Amino acid sequence: MTQPHLVYTYPVRLTVNGQTHQLDLDPRASVLDTLRDRLGVMSVKKGCDHGQCGACTVLLDGDRVLSCLCLAASADGSDIVTAEGLGNSEALHPMQQAFLEHDGFQCGYCTPGQICSAVGALRELAEGMPSHVTPEVQADPQLTDRELRERMSGNLCRCGAYANIVSAVREVAEASTVSQVARPLPIGVNG
Ligand code: FES
Ligand code: FES
Repeated sequence: MTQPHLVYTYPVRLTVNGQTHQLDLDPRASVLDTLRDRLGVMSVKKGCDHGQCGACTVLLDGDRVLSCLCLAASADGSDIVTAEGLGNSEALHPMQQAFLEHDGFQCGYCTPGQICSAVGALRELAEGMPSHVTPEVQADPQLTDRELRERMSGNLCRCGAYANIVSAVREVAEASTVSQVARPLPIGVNG
């Protein structure tokens, strides 16, 4: 006699790019798989699925996170912004525009994660959060290439577009006020 197939689900409420979804999810589901497989948000990329590459980076309540390492159940009630939530082809986010102008990508696979990560990194900088290479943790971190490279070091690019990515992030950082990058959600058409 076949055993009944028991499926246990957990109710999760997520707001993604301004739209709220009520979902019943496997409690083991990651935010990454939920965004792609349940909600069709395909800009969020699966690279390693192990927290090693940064391709899956999103902004969760304004902070950058690796969505492959976040359980959707633990993100219940959260506000998630992905690359397509930052802007669109008619009104690009300044970071998206800068990546275009500085040629900050080749194949583009890592780019949505790079852009979300860069927006989160600038917010952290604006809030005075030190990094591993900040010389004096009591002082505000400076906008050096070393700081930017360190803060973006969790986002790998197999095409090696790093130099142009740093240029793009620097341009936005120099043009942004502290209040712009420190907003709870990134500057964007939905922000
Ligand atoms: S897919 Fe999440 S860090 Fe690589
Ligand atoms: S642009 Fe190809 S992996 Fe980064």
